[in-house]
Formats: sequence, C-alpha cells, structure tokens
Amino acid sequence: MPKPPGGALLHGFSVDRASPVPIYRQLDAALRRFILDGTLRPAQKLPSTRELAQDLNVSRITVKSVYEQLVAEGYAEARTGAGTFVAQGLDPDYAPSFRLPRRRAKPPEIEISDHAKMITSSKASIRHGKTDGFRPGVPALDVFPVKAWNKYIFDAMTSHERRNLSYGPVTGSAALRQAVSRHLADARGMQADPDQIVITSGAQQAFVMIAFVLLDRGETVWYENPGHIAGRDIMQAMGARVAPVPIDSEGLDLDVAMSRYPNPTVIFTTPSHQQPLGTTMSLVRRLALLNYAQENGAWIIEDDYDSEFRYRGRPLPALSALDTERRVFYVGTFSKSMFASMRLGYIVVPPGLVDTFAKARNLLGQSSSAVVESAMAQFMDDGRFVEHIRKMRRVYRERRDILYDCLLRDCADHLDVQPTDAGMHMLAWLKRGIDDQTAHSALLDAGIESLPLSVYTSEPIERQALVLGFSGVGEKRIPNLVSRMAKALAEF
Ligand SMILES: Cc1ncc(COP(=O)(O)O)c(C=O)c1O
Repeated sequence: MPKPPGGALLHGFSVDRASPVPIYRQLDAALRRFILDGTLRPAQKLPSTRELAQDLNVSRITVKSVYEQLVAEGYAEARTGAGTFVAQGLDPDYAPSFRLPRRRAKPPEIEISDHAKMITSSKASIRHGKTDGFRPGVPALDVFPVKAWNKYIFDAMTSHERRNLSYGPVTGSAALRQAVSRHLADARGMQADPDQIVITSGAQQAFVMIAFVLLDRGETVWYENPGHIAGRDIMQAMGARVAPVPIDSEGLDLDVAMSRYPNPTVIFTTPSHQQPLGTTMSLVRRLALLNYAQENGAWIIEDDYDSEFRYRGRPLPALSALDTERRVFYVGTFSKSMFASMRLGYIVVPPGLVDTFAKARNLLGQSSSAVVESAMAQFMDDGRFVEHIRKMRRVYRERRDILYDCLLRDCADHLDVQPTDAGMHMLAWLKRGIDDQTAHSALLDAGIESLPLSVYTSEPIERQALVLGFSGVGEKRIPNLVSRMAKALAEF
C-alpha cells in the first residue's frame, strides 16, 4: 500500500510566546478554527505530533494532549498507524461563529487605473469547465486522443535529463518553432523562418503582446465588426481607438474603413474565416489590404484561428503568404486544432521586432510550459498533428451536417440557418425580429449554449443571429439538443 501523504502544514499558526494564553490553548483554538472554517478539510491529515512539535518548537506532549482533546470532542479522528485526521463529514455550518466573514453585499469603491476600467468592461466571457450544447469554438474533446497525448507528455517530462521541468526559452523551444514553421509552409503556403516565430500562451496572449508593442494611447485600430471579442477588448484596454469596420461579401470593407478612419496603426482581421460571419476574404481584397498597409505604414494582425477546418475546396494561402513587405503579424493557435487548456499559440513576427517580442514575452510570464511545447513539437514531427486535423475534419463535417439538418427540420419557423463550408460554428439568423440576447438567454435557461451575434459587435449591425458551435457536441446528442432548442424558441 502507498505511504499515506504527509499532513497539513499549518503555517497559518504560530505560537505567541508573549501571550498570557497558554500554548496548548492557542494551538487548540487555532486547530478548531481551521477545522470549522474549512481551512482544514474533512478527512484531511493533521501533521504528526513530532513534526508539529518541531515546527512550533513546543513539547510533543503539548501537541499530543491537544490532539487527544480534539479527538475526544469529535473534531478529529485518530487512526492507528496512520495518524490523526480531521473528522469526516464535519459540517462547517455547525459553529457559525467561526465561519469566514461573509462577502459584503456592496464592496467598497476601489480606485483603479483607466486600463483596468477598460478591462472590467470587457464583454469577453470567461469560459471554464464543461459547456453544453453549441458553445462556439469548442473542439471535439470527446474524441481527443488522450492516451496517445499522455505518452508525449510523459516523454517530455522525462527526456533530456528532465530539462523541460525548468523554464523554457522565451520565444519557445527550437523544436516547436521548427515544427510550426514546417506546418505553416505545408498548410498555409508561408515561408516563416523559425527565428521569426514566437510561441505564446494562446492567440490571446499574442494579441496582448502585439498591442503592447505597437499601440500608443489614442491610436486607431481597424477592427472587424462583428469581430473576435477578446481581441477587440484588449486593444481597447490598451487605450486604442477601436474603429468598427463592417464586413461585406469579400471581407473587411476597405472602402468604408479608409473613408471613415484614416491612419490606422493596426488592422485586425480574420481573412481565412471571418469571426463570426464566416466570410473568406477574396484575393482582390487581400491584395488591396496589403497594399494599403504597405503604403500607409499600418500593421496587420492576421488571426488565423481555425483555418485547419475547411470542408470543401482548398483554402486560400494565408494573407501573410502574400505579404512581401512584412507588414503582417500572423497569429495561430492550438486551442482549436488540439485543445484550449494546452495554452499554446504563436506569432510570426516581422523581422527586426523579434528581440522586442522576446523581451515582451519575458515580462508576460517568461515562457509557455516547456513540457507542453516539447510534447507538441514531437506530436507534430511524428505526423500525429496532421493525422488529428484530418480526423477532426471528418468529425466536424459530420457534426455540421447533422446540426444543419436538425435545425432545418425543427427550427425553420424561428431560424434561417446559414450553411458553412469551414470552421467550427454556423450562424442561425433569427426570424421575426427576435432579439438575439433574449433568444440566447432563453436557450441558456433550457441548458443550451450559443452566443448572440451582438456580443461580437461594438456598433449594432442590422440582423440578429445566434452563433452555434457544432464541433464540440457528439453526433448522437445533437438531435435531442435541437428539439429542446425548438421548444424553447417556440415559447417566445
Ligand atoms: C477568433 C479567435 N481568435 C483567437 C482566439 C483565441 O484563442 P486562444 O487564446 O485560446 O489561442 C479565439 C478563441 O476563442 C477565437 O475565437
């Protein structure tokens, strides 16, 4: 049998030798308080009497007698040969006087910076844990090859004399930067030197770093409207003037942007698959945009978040692949093609700025996990990543088809569903002037997730829609979820 783990540290208690209260009383009171306020959990092991006596520099008899008293009163349990444990099933509500102070209904006003005020008003939702239904952008976690991935993680932990357990290089491991460079050449038609690639903790950190490096207060950012929420919010939090640029059938509407918002410092765009409308930017528009950036000294952020998933035809190469003057920051992520909690993304940084980005990365948490980077590099080198993408493409295509058919069958009275040939979500336009925020809340009440199109906007757009992710929902569950959705919409 494995040795039971050591007991709690109890660093929150120290003996007050100047106090008139005897030491055994101080220890007894502290332990009762820790047990009742939940600092020590039911069934948690207490330190051995020897360890605690040594830590506190008190006699072992003192500790023993306190433990015996706690056991006698039911706060703790002694197990022969194993030690003393907090009693199981002890309800902290039992002694309300010891409970942690309750949160006050209205916290006192705290003066915060202008940056922080912008951060507080961010519309980007905080996503954690299990989601159900059609939350956009969630990959098929149910079929992720966990066993195979575990092997890569294990190898990354143990190889190279465990070097990966230390900090990694600030711009990411050479192996991963080389693997990403090869992948970009193969999948996106790009010639990115590994030395130009900076590994980040996801695409969002890439946007933070780019905004940090390029933007001064009050400078203009052209931003797709509707557009990626968290990217917009970080530009705003940096004090930029975020100018909403509409999307037409060819992508970001350059004419509108040029006439309304002169001299942008940064242009944020999702040319492969506009987030969230799904438009692919035409070649003519790409060339015009690059030309504009080159002539006007603007920088483009190309957010290529889900270009791996295209179900018909071949994808256009990345905008960055056409960029002869190096005005584009290409940003990629493994959050969609692998899974989000690995927190790996990358920027292809124009030459001359790599050192600045390395320093910015150093200040923003130094590096991503060297273990995860090393596992990912090997996964790519072994061809497993490409294999995984191919498999996910088949899975997502099937999920997309099922969702589309079910929506047509059950929700045609309420929704106009827009077919899609790419990505991980589809748009369902709401009929009869139903407001998307209200529809979204009604679906949430029925346990179904989606996002209202309006959260992606900073300036209202004409129509209302729900953004429905299909990639993260198992095929068998989709019909049932859609019929629940139909019911919820019918109650409107
Ligand atoms: C369009 C788009 N870009 C970038 C991201 C950021 O992804 P991450 O920071 O997880 O790499 C997301 C995440 O949802 C996204 O939807």
